[in-house]
Amino acid sequence: MYKKLSEVLLPAAENNYAVGHFNINNMEILQAIMQAAQAQKSPVILGTSEGAIKYAGIHFLKKIVDAAVENYPDIPVVLHLDHGRTMSLIQACIKNGWTSIMYDGSNLSYEQNAKNTREIAQLAHEKGVSVEGELGTIGGAEDNVNAREIVYTEPEIAAKFVKQTQVDALAIAIGTSHGAYKFAGKQQLDTGRLKVINELITTPLVLHGASAVPKEIIEKAKKYGAQLEGAEGVPEEQITRAIKNGINKINTDTDIRLTFTATIREFLSNNPKEFDPRKILGVAREQMQKVAEHRMQLFGSAGKI
Ligand code: G3H
Ligand code: 13P
Ligand code: ZN
Repeated sequence: MYKKLSEVLLPAAENNYAVGHFNINNMEILQAIMQAAQAQKSPVILGTSEGAIKYAGIHFLKKIVDAAVENYPDIPVVLHLDHGRTMSLIQACIKNGWTSIMYDGSNLSYEQNAKNTREIAQLAHEKGVSVEGELGTIGGAEDNVNAREIVYTEPEIAAKFVKQTQVDALAIAIGTSHGAYKFAGKQQLDTGRLKVINELITTPLVLHGASAVPKEIIEKAKKYGAQLEGAEGVPEEQITRAIKNGINKINTDTDIRLTFTATIREFLSNNPKEFDPRKILGVAREQMQKVAEHRMQLFGSAGKI
């Protein structure tokens, strides 16, 4: 059943676990995530970026998610706009039945970010839709944003931001970055900063850029021709520590993308005569499900429904 973000994050905050946000771009990724949620009895957050909406189309995405919700009636599903940056996209998602939106004003001044986030939260809450805000800057590159430096979230400013904006969840910058090349140098998650933020704020906290970039997936992709020198993710023990210290929503996109690519590279290389898309995408779907299941276990959301 469809749920708002607040409905799945409040029990997570009370019981000290995190709910996985997985980005979806097509039917196979969605099916893999839903199968994983079913197998693990876990609530799930389906993230659609602006790039995903451009690629698949807002109506196609909504209809395949409707089908998923109908097929898996016991799974709490949040349909969430990831990194919404324009009013037109946010309004389109609210109008089309998204149950949660992220407004990402992290590239703006504090005042402008807080003002926009407050207005969007008011508008969304009137329609029964949850809102995630972002303060500080998560590093890395996405389709619609240039590569950015990490600007760590200041605890007192974060406390002021949630009070002012009334967001249902807050994405904070504590050292992660989007994509497959995290921690250039020796950076680690700033758990000390997270602890202080968590002491000041009761609103659920969100960790973006949290993919593990598993070594075995990178090695497989490289064995079959991918160029991924220097790829590195967030170690699992740091994720566990982050959850202990107040993270209740964890975003994963890169691990699913890497799994998709590595599996297809291997399959095509081992089956040079195969050209049936169902066979090719089918093996990728199986492997993506395994990765999502593992993440749900790690986050502690497995068995929570
Ligand atoms: O936040 C970043 C997500 O991985 C989405 O990436 O904008 O390339 O779809 P994208
Ligand atoms: P990764 O690139 O680490 O998977 O992060 C995804 C994300 O934060 C989406 O908002
Ligand atoms: Zn993100």
